[in-house]
Amino acid sequence: MSAQPRTLALVTGANRGMGLEIARRLAEHGSRVLLSGRDPDAVTRAATALRDDGLDVEPLVLDVTGTDSIAAAAAEITGRHGRLDILVNNAAIRIEEYGRRPSEQPLDRWRRTFDTNLFGVVETTVALLPLIRSSPAGRIVNVSSLLASLTTHTDPASYAYSDTFKSLPAYSASKSALNSWTVHLAYELRDTPVKVNAVHPGYTKTGMNDGAGDLEIPEGAATSVAMALLPDDGPTGTYVHLGNVVPW
Ligand SMILES: NC(=O)c1ccc[n+]([C@@H]2O[C@H](COP(=O)([O-])OP(=O)(O)OC[C@H]3O[C@@H](n4cnc5c(N)ncnc54)[C@H](OP(=O)(O)O)[C@@H]3O)[C@@H](O)[C@H]2O)c1
Repeated sequence: MSAQPRTLALVTGANRGMGLEIARRLAEHGSRVLLSGRDPDAVTRAATALRDDGLDVEPLVLDVTGTDSIAAAAAEITGRHGRLDILVNNAAIRIEEYGRRPSEQPLDRWRRTFDTNLFGVVETTVALLPLIRSSPAGRIVNVSSLLASLTTHTDPASYAYSDTFKSLPAYSASKSALNSWTVHLAYELRDTPVKVNAVHPGYTKTGMNDGAGDLEIPEGAATSVAMALLPDDGPTGTYVHLGNVVPW
């Protein structure tokens, strides 16, 4: 058995989809994992299933749109563990309807999308940053999307240059903003051991896509897991997919 203390990882939106797989893989790698989500029953069920497989997983209720929920989670982690090494900001929503033009998406959906996909990440990260800063090897992974890429969106040869993928302007813009936040936070932390990176998981068969996608969930989770487990000489402030840099 290793004499090293286990790294402590928190994955948001981990009760299902890629978040659940990321939590499983980090636990299999030897981390203690805080499996978090907004629905207490779903979080308990998911954590129990992984614990039944012998993995070191604890449930944590965390709604990334709730200031009180974030504060309570941060206080619980501080009290229970006093540290955090890995934060995977995986929780997100995609609530726009395919088939509408960009100008036709209701403003309410823009606001709700940004509340979760951008402000939720920023507020959660800032609340947990003192714990992550005290880690000898802090890692922050922001789960973005290829739809964040303005280079991709403006390339007529890209799949994103289509009515289908131009009908998610709020989702796409929220992930572009998440990429920008990634660059800003990486700059702030550039002289610390903390690495901050954005990932494109790949088009993956989850509930977000009603089961459509090119990748199975384990492959979709792979980039986030790899960036959560970066060695000390790994990059920061990057945007990657399966080891390849993605154009911003
Ligand atoms: N699937 C793809 O093809 C694809 C492609 C590119 C990027 N991504 C990104 O990959 C990540 C994972 O996506 P996925 O496909 O696995 O999605 P998913 O199956 O829809 O799962 C999303 C997770 O986020 C949680 N969540 C939503 N709002 C939350 C909130 N306010 N607080 C806490 N948790 C919340 C959901 O919880 P509930 O169960 O309570 O709803 C669920 O656990 C997302 O960031 C997504 O944008 C996905």
